[in-house]
Amino acid sequence: MTKQATDYHLIVDSLKGNLPSLPVVMNELLTVISDHDAALYALQDLLKMDQSIYAQLLKVANTHGNRQGRESRITSMEEAVQTLGLEKVKRIALNTTILTLFKGVKFPSDFSLEALWLHSLGVALASALLAEELNMGGRADQAYTCGLLHDIGKLAKCKFDQMVYADEIRECMSQRIDCHERESLGKHVRHDLLGSYLARSWGISSMVETVTKWHHEEDRSKRYDIEDAKVQALVDVVYLANVTIHHLGFGNSGHKAVKPVSKLILRRLHLKEEQYSQFKEKLSEKLEEEADSYALFSAK
Ligand SMILES: [Fe+2]
Ligand SMILES: [Fe+2]
Repeated sequence: MTKQATDYHLIVDSLKGNLPSLPVVMNELLTVISDHDAALYALQDLLKMDQSIYAQLLKVANTHGNRQGRESRITSMEEAVQTLGLEKVKRIALNTTILTLFKGVKFPSDFSLEALWLHSLGVALASALLAEELNMGGRADQAYTCGLLHDIGKLAKCKFDQMVYADEIRECMSQRIDCHERESLGKHVRHDLLGSYLARSWGISSMVETVTKWHHEEDRSKRYDIEDAKVQALVDVVYLANVTIHHLGFGNSGHKAVKPVSKLILRRLHLKEEQYSQFKEKLSEKLEEEADSYALFSAK
């Protein structure tokens, strides 16, 4: 094991019992979500086990946009699923579960949990939309999950040493440097690597572990442990989604530096600049459309 790997293991070990524990339904939820053949009733049974997901589903189903003129309130899981559709239900369940992780961490006063949460939601939505646009054969759910968890290492860093993390963010914000760049140049703990170790220690999907690890690496040949071309494409998708969300100024992941869009990644994904601009426009509309639901997921 390399020195770096040992260090990260030590950090993950020291976090055990300190980080919020993995929400009970999360592992099962990730499995059901990534299984296209899983029956709707399997998902419903799972969702009924978790009161907070159940409550959130009803709340979203009863928003103005979703009630579509109906007078009576939606009060059952079955009705909520019917109104919202399977795709939305899966996302609401995932958002509710992962938000509990965010809430389990105390943030420094100059960094807002809500802003990081919004950044993560934005990247999730952008990743799923991009996977759909690129016809990536039903990978939109996986892209959403990976997008939602891509910066989970920042939560871990915050929990590990809040003071050090607060200094780091202050420096990134005032000097307009990218957090990842600062981590790499200054040999600080890298949130992408830490997030990936954390995903592994929780035993959650290896896809999340891999995408989290490489979401800042543009060069495919440096992503040394990926053999599957589909996984490489998924990393590209989350990479591009992350940069795009920074361009749109949605949420805040701890810095305000905006990287240019990678021409290499656009080329690899066979996305012409014009198509990319259309995607960005579509994404802005989608973010606006979803604002109602997002407000219900307020991190406060
Ligand atoms: Fe990141
Ligand atoms: Fe990010």
